Amino acid sequence: MKIFLCVVIYSLFISQPRVQASTPDSPTYVAAVVEYSPVTASDGDTAADVVTKNLANYVLHIQRAAEKGADIIVFPECGLVTFAGHGSFSTHLPNPEDRVNPCTDDSSGVEEVVRTLSCEARNRSIYVVVNIPEMVPCPSDTNCSSSDVLLYNSNVVFDRDGTVVARYRKFNLFGEPGFSATLEPELSVFDTDFGVKFGTFTCFDIMFEKPAVSLVRALGVTDVVFPTAWFSQLPFHSAVQVQSSWASSMDVNFLASGYNNPRGGSSGSGIYAGKEGPIVAVMPTVPSTQLLLAVVPKKSFQRTKHVSSNVSNVCELITATPYRNAFPERLDGNDSGITMLSDYLEPYETLLLTENEFFSKHTVCHNELCCDFELVMHRSQQIMNSSYKDNVYRLAVFDGIRSYTYVTAGVQICAVISCINDSLSSCVKDLKLSKQEMLNTVFDYVHISGNFRQSNSIHLPITLVRGYDVLSSDKFQFTREEMPERNEIKVDMKTSRQNSNLLTFAIFGRDFQKDGGLLTLPSRCHRTSAATVTVLITVAVILCLHTYFKFPFSFLH
Ligand SMILES: *[C@@H]1O[C@H](CO)[C@@H](O)[C@H](O)[C@H]1NC(C)=O
Ligand SMILES: *[C@@H]1O[C@H](CO)[C@@H](O)[C@H](O)[C@H]1NC(C)=O
Ligand SMILES: *[C@@H]1O[C@H](CO)[C@@H](O)[C@H](O)[C@H]1NC(C)=O
Ligand SMILES: *[C@@H]1O[C@H](CO)[C@@H](O)[C@H](O)[C@H]1NC(C)=O
Ligand SMILES: *[C@@H]1O[C@H](CO)[C@@H](O)[C@H](O)[C@H]1NC(C)=O
Ligand SMILES: *[C@@H]1O[C@H](CO)[C@@H](O)[C@H](O)[C@H]1NC(C)=O
Repeated sequence: MKIFLCVVIYSLFISQPRVQASTPDSPTYVAAVVEYSPVTASDGDTAADVVTKNLANYVLHIQRAAEKGADIIVFPECGLVTFAGHGSFSTHLPNPEDRVNPCTDDSSGVEEVVRTLSCEARNRSIYVVVNIPEMVPCPSDTNCSSSDVLLYNSNVVFDRDGTVVARYRKFNLFGEPGFSATLEPELSVFDTDFGVKFGTFTCFDIMFEKPAVSLVRALGVTDVVFPTAWFSQLPFHSAVQVQSSWASSMDVNFLASGYNNPRGGSSGSGIYAGKEGPIVAVMPTVPSTQLLLAVVPKKSFQRTKHVSSNVSNVCELITATPYRNAFPERLDGNDSGITMLSDYLEPYETLLLTENEFFSKHTVCHNELCCDFELVMHRSQQIMNSSYKDNVYRLAVFDGIRSYTYVTAGVQICAVISCINDSLSSCVKDLKLSKQEMLNTVFDYVHISGNFRQSNSIHLPITLVRGYDVLSSDKFQFTREEMPERNEIKVDMKTSRQNSNLLTFAIFGRDFQKDGGLLTLPSRCHRTSAATVTVLITVAVILCLHTYFKFPFSFLH
């Protein structure tokens, strides 16, 4: 296992220029992702001016990454045009099947920004992944209504020659007025000269079966590039939490580049080695741009047990540092810089742990899902001079359909979550711990298990610790045992060592079969609607829906 942790935190990364690019025989490759705080429009700037300014920054990052030996670099969703300018600038993008090289082919018809990126990829001999609004003439069989073009939220990939080798049009749009989705989700993949086949999808796509899960399950993709402009939500969907748990659940290398605007709710990038956990991840609480680099062990080598002894040689050349909390920005700041959205827990079945329950065993059920919990906790020995903050914990179980603002989605959840106090709504609030503050409760052991529906589902090991960090893979175990005769899967998640500052520890199941169904309402709504008088039922349902829909819906992108 150690060799898989043979990794490098960006700040300690090789200072000398790298000798050569990775090859199909190398057991690793070098990846770069950019946590990017874009230049936004100032007075008089056109959308094209904004793109030009951000492009200049992209070029610098491509050059730096190439100097550090990166084989591939990933930029975030909306990074060139900014979030506010989403849709106000667009370009034609070549079909990857046509193998167009915009740098050398003057007839490619792309905007200058695309040509420049192609030339930079070529000049620096590095794969470049960029997200940009794509414009296509309105197909004759489609009603484009007011305009004669369609806009797609697209990722484009250039190879080391600057040739366009992949183009992906985002399927699961998060609202995004003016943009269209393709009729069918595209499964976009590209092969590299270092022997790794990548898939790509964008931001909100990660919550759905298609194309994200299909790339892995149907096409056997082992590595994913993921531009994102995420809106973090507590307690299950903060950016690094989701990136890390999806990569782990699918056991793919995951290169996530995040749009950085903490006050707006967006922050978080990382490079994740599947089940081996994060190699490097950041979630800055202040506006910042960071280039993250990591040596990524190839999944193909791990899976065929073909990990040669040469891996350790590679590692010796570079300063190897196992993943620790690689959150430099956070350590300088505090937890209050990121605007966190809140999940809606009213429909959940929950159980508040009382102060006396330092050894506890509970079974909590909601609809068809029963979760078993076993917890051993104690109060910290307050020996250091840090200040300790008291919080409480709730066990939370949900089996039903939740809202993702624009769509509904089936989920099954067994969770231990931290709350500020006894009120349920305080369980989705940021504790806003300062740099010196620690949580008073220490978990000696937590074990959660449940029988989840198997078909058409995935199960994410969701963790969160103070500072928007996640537990590294050596701190917990996550196992799944299929029980096909019952169409169930038994999922177990347990800590393998003592943990402090734990905020969320949960099995988050996505039940794709139920996507698009009717929302699961709080049980008090069900009780009311059980009243016998028809008029009362109608009034009650309307009231419940009203109460329900009042909660802030805005969420992720
Ligand atoms: C690559 O870029 C550098 C610096 O911008 C420039 O000096 C050099 O001529 C370029 N090389 C090619 C082959 O375009
Ligand atoms: C196209 O869209 C417009 C405006 O939404 C509508 O009035 C028109 O009937 C549509 N045409 C077709 C062929 O669907
Ligand atoms: C390991 O490296 C040595 C020299 O560096 C080379 O001769 C050998 O072929 C390599 N083995 C493998 C399996 O790549
Ligand atoms: C925490 O960070 C925010 C945003 O940078 C800042 O406004 C606030 O003053 C900081 N609070 C403390 C206690 O440092
Ligand atoms: C806490 O410890 C730090 C360094 O160990 C010291 O600088 C600081 O003064 C201490 N604070 C208190 C309140 O004792
Ligand atoms: C619980 O905490 C929330 C958020 O800090 C606060 O608004 C609320 O008043 C507290 N409720 C109780 C009962 O202490």
